[in-house]
Amino acid sequence: MNLQQDLEKVLITHEEIVEISKRMGKEIERDYREKNPLLIGLLKGCIPFIAELMLHIDTHVELDFMDVSSYYGGTKSTDSVRVLKDLGSSVKGRDVLIIEDIVDSGKTIQLVKEMLSSRGATTVGVATLLDKPSGRKVELEPEYIGTVIPDGFVVGYGLDYEENYRNLDCIGILKKEIYTKRDGE
Ligand code: PRP
Repeated sequence: MNLQQDLEKVLITHEEIVEISKRMGKEIERDYREKNPLLIGLLKGCIPFIAELMLHIDTHVELDFMDVSSYYGGTKSTDSVRVLKDLGSSVKGRDVLIIEDIVDSGKTIQLVKEMLSSRGATTVGVATLLDKPSGRKVELEPEYIGTVIPDGFVVGYGLDYEENYRNLDCIGILKKEIYTKRDGE
């Protein structure tokens, strides 16, 4: 049994992800040269992407990570984000770039952006491998987008279903029977 057998369809191959990362890395390099930006990966989904992306940014960058859990209360004013693992460095006066695997509703990123701005970051940008605009609940446009994906349950390359499939080297749509079967157990 291998993990790829659980996919209905491969959406993005590993080779394509590397090509996308190269292109995004060059864009980031161009825009952040001399700025010594702080790349902030949001755990855990960001891990393979940030690891690939940073190799294609040929200028000084620093790296940090944060793990947050979002709580959506139903209205914007009750949405909040709980910090499970905080940054090791200060963002005050820094140009920061949040690195995500996917922006779906956009709420996580919006809340994290607000938090980093309130901590004194000079600029807060967003680079995401995947953008799913059909899921958007807030107005948010990432500055750097790898590729736009359609609606569907995607896993692989950091993205999970119940903590599994993060280690798949491509991104694909999970077979429906996988998540309906497990949910019914
Ligand atoms: C996923 C993903 C984004 C967020 C996107 O993280 O990595 O952070 O959801 O969703 P949104 O745009 O609707 O807010 P998740 O909370 O599943 O944690 P993980 O990275 O550990 O899988």
